[in-house]
Amino acid sequence: MGIKRAKVRESIIFMSEKCYYITTAIDYTNAPPHIGHAYEKVLADVIARYQRLKGRKVFFLTGVDQHGQKVAQSAAAAGLEPQEFADEITQRFRALWQTLEISYDGWAATTDQAHHQVVRQVLQRLYDEGKLYKATHKGHYSVRQEQFLTDKERGPDGEFGQEWGEVVEIEEENWYFPLTECRQWLSDLVRSRENFITPAFRKSEVLNALERLGGDLCISRPRERLSWGIEFPFDPGFVTYVWFDALLNYLSFAGYLKDPESKLPDFETLWPCDLHVIGKDILVPSHSVYWPIMLKGMGFSDEQIPQLLVHGWWNMGGSKISKSTGNIVDPVVLCDAYGSSAIRYFLMRDIVTGQDSDYSESRVRSRYTADLANDLGNLLNRTLNMTHRYLGGKLRNAAAEASPLKDALPGVLEQYESAMDRFEIHSAMEAVWSWISAANAYVESSAPWKLAKDAAQTEKLEQVLYHLVETLRGVSVLIEPVIPAAAEQIRKQIQWENESTSGDAAISLAEAEWGGLADGHVVGLGVPIFPRLPEQEQE
Ligand code: MSP
Repeated sequence: MGIKRAKVRESIIFMSEKCYYITTAIDYTNAPPHIGHAYEKVLADVIARYQRLKGRKVFFLTGVDQHGQKVAQSAAAAGLEPQEFADEITQRFRALWQTLEISYDGWAATTDQAHHQVVRQVLQRLYDEGKLYKATHKGHYSVRQEQFLTDKERGPDGEFGQEWGEVVEIEEENWYFPLTECRQWLSDLVRSRENFITPAFRKSEVLNALERLGGDLCISRPRERLSWGIEFPFDPGFVTYVWFDALLNYLSFAGYLKDPESKLPDFETLWPCDLHVIGKDILVPSHSVYWPIMLKGMGFSDEQIPQLLVHGWWNMGGSKISKSTGNIVDPVVLCDAYGSSAIRYFLMRDIVTGQDSDYSESRVRSRYTADLANDLGNLLNRTLNMTHRYLGGKLRNAAAEASPLKDALPGVLEQYESAMDRFEIHSAMEAVWSWISAANAYVESSAPWKLAKDAAQTEKLEQVLYHLVETLRGVSVLIEPVIPAAAEQIRKQIQWENESTSGDAAISLAEAEWGGLADGHVVGLGVPIFPRLPEQEQE
């Protein structure tokens, strides 16, 4: 079954069909990835794989945000050139995405020259159309953080805190992109477009931000203050503000204004983007204010403004995961200890999309043991062992006969699909695991070991085992987006993959329908796919 999507498949050129185009935030290359970054990429990957399971062509873009002050500062602290530093961190992200089987199709690295060219073209067009202006700003400036401060940065005593170091008043000339004139248009769009922002409770944050909108967007930084960025095409004394540069990745790596020789996709097959998956911290103002207004300024219509899926944050012990508190968990270490399937499953199962959750390794271990090793792993093992012991591994097609597992499937599929369509992955997994639990209960209630002792019960025994293997086959289809490697192992062990009609075709959701195993189908031997964790690591 050709579900080999773990490998990076960059620069795919799609023909005329509109693809499901999904993106994530591009990660800052000022520090290595942590579990929060991993969560977002797995979430987007699950959505991408689910769309493929439904037969859609997908273009999944992720990447790295390599410019800006933070990267320049971290590079200087490490005694490296910004590019060198960004490249090193970028490699860590790419290695992690490979380990976590993130099936991205395009890689957005903002130091890519093709991206530079698009940013410069966009700036030039906006300038030519008279949509940019230059103005002087006078304000408080943190020398240590190299940024202008506003009243929001003042502490309760009205002063700027220690973290800003020396604060001076300076006057600086910069380029601006108008925002305020679009305030009403955007408020109307947020209110009227049903799926613009998911979950819907986040809409009020955007509407509040629009009400408070203080001024236009400063899109440049003087070269002498920050040189690590994309140079303005019509005013070389300035580089592009990192957010203006970074947001444009969604267009540039989708082939917008591309060089005809380039291998980037055809923009017409991708835009409008179907979904931007982002964290709650970058909804306001970047993705919900700057981005839609930038798109409008570039001439995109309201219908071409993408939908935002805003996820919550993983915290630790109730506080933010951050380098300064030293509570960073390296996802590579976790994958080494538990396997990437277990980490993917945990990240999808232990959080409600849109809400925050608290990370702890003991939660990872208990999900591993209860859901994966006991519920799913044992069911697979027991079923295959019994099929071999009692039926010599060969199944009789009993699809037409009744069982609680067959009866449960339509309800499971309904909850699964409606939850996946709403990006509520945890709820879809709940549906699948309720079916797995029903199968474990069915083993106990039908007691195949007793049926096997009574020759008059052979038909019943065959029916029970067919229904159990059939359930495992269905489960392997439904878990495909979340834990593709484990799903494939299940299919290998039940030997269903050998029966796939088209060798290279991807698996489809329709195959979860009841009765896919043929009469006389022979199952393979059971090998634990989630071996027990070493004793000392058990709680
Ligand atoms: N570079 C910007 C995004 C530019 S998009 C045009 C950025 N980078 S980031 O590295 O700080 O964050 C990348 C993504 O990871 C964001 O969507 C952010 O919300 C997410 N997360 C960072 N920490 C997180 C958690 N602790 N939990 C969940 N997601 C978190 O912002």
